[in-house]
Amino acid sequence: MAKLTVNDLDLRGKRVLVRVDYNVPMEEKDGQMVINDVTRIKETLGTLDLLIGKGARIILAAHLGRPDGKREPTMSLRPVAAKLADMIHRPVAFVDDCVGEKAEKTAGALKPGDVLLLENTRYHAAEEANDPSFAAELAKLADVYVNDAFGAAHRAHASTEGVARIVAQRGGQCAAGLLMERELKFLGDELEKPARPFVVILGGAKVSDKITVIDRLLERADTILIGGAMTYTFRLALGLKVGKSLVEPDRVGVAKDALEKAKARKVPFMLPVDNLVGTPVNTGRLNKKGKPIIEIQNPRVNDGVNIPDSEEGMDIGPKTIQSHTAAIAGARTILWNGPMGVFEDPRFSEGTFAVARAVAAATRNGAKSIIGGGDSVKALNLTGLTDQVTFVSTGGGASLEFLEGKVLPGVAALSDK
Ligand code: 3PG
Ligand code: MG
Repeated sequence: MAKLTVNDLDLRGKRVLVRVDYNVPMEEKDGQMVINDVTRIKETLGTLDLLIGKGARIILAAHLGRPDGKREPTMSLRPVAAKLADMIHRPVAFVDDCVGEKAEKTAGALKPGDVLLLENTRYHAAEEANDPSFAAELAKLADVYVNDAFGAAHRAHASTEGVARIVAQRGGQCAAGLLMERELKFLGDELEKPARPFVVILGGAKVSDKITVIDRLLERADTILIGGAMTYTFRLALGLKVGKSLVEPDRVGVAKDALEKAKARKVPFMLPVDNLVGTPVNTGRLNKKGKPIIEIQNPRVNDGVNIPDSEEGMDIGPKTIQSHTAAIAGARTILWNGPMGVFEDPRFSEGTFAVARAVAAATRNGAKSIIGGGDSVKALNLTGLTDQVTFVSTGGGASLEFLEGKVLPGVAALSDK
């Protein structure tokens, strides 16, 4: 990577503003906000250790949720400061605003190795607007800028992009953190020249979310395995019956183009050959949002590629599990993004879990496996196999955009080596 990293910097006594992605899942329990998954915090500890070891004065900035410029109490980072302190076994100071006098004073008083977490940057509308004067306020807090927030690097916001430009303009350094560096290595360099066969597994609900990635990976992959509800849009494109399955009729054209491109490039594009289906039944009850609650009844195997009119596709079937996992077993590089079915429902989790197990087994046999964020990571965590793959991205939208070949604004803004 041609970008400066924290390893390149001399930081003793310097105030370092570190953008992290602490946008962690939270839940209210007995009136308190509780963190459900600390992965994104844990993954920054390498950078923090290094910065502490270098004697930096560390100022962490992050967003949480989408408070839209308001001080939404359930989206405060205060519980994250407490959790981080537990995890690094040192005090973590917290200031209830990310800019202004109090933030400046507290940042100025830090000693080498001290850590401060600032309140949610998105409490200010100027953050998402990438307002230059707000970015300048953030820049005032620090001598050096480090971005370790790969998961937010696709956003051109003040704390991910604007602040870096201001620090650079005044001659300061802007570097990638260790997590950012690792994400770019695995999702970028490692997939540029993959060991072959390179097998790509793509799932998830929508063709529209994945079509650009599919298009790009068709130029590099040896095999593409498809699962999830996007299957049914591809089936529509092939003139097959999809019953009540989730489809995007307006994406049939792009689905056809992808199928043709795969054929022209002779890349096996393996759509499911069977499915688990169920019968959607309206319960007559409404959910919290006032929408009718649909229950899926009578789960069963639908052996074939046409789905009856009354049925909805919910997971890949046993034959597909067999062919997909066989392809995975032969891979030397694996990229997986998106679940194979509605894995949150135990009746329809087997396809996704079987893929997870196959990816872990292939990794044990020497393949490099890279899991691209979001739901596939959740599924992998449920199987307990997260430690048995080569790399798990902390990015959702960011990893997809990066795989699409887009330039991430948060990366572009960093100093070149
Ligand atoms: C994420 O969770 O995808 C990142 O933290 C970015 O959050 P956002 O989608 O609200 O911009
Ligand atoms: Mg998101």
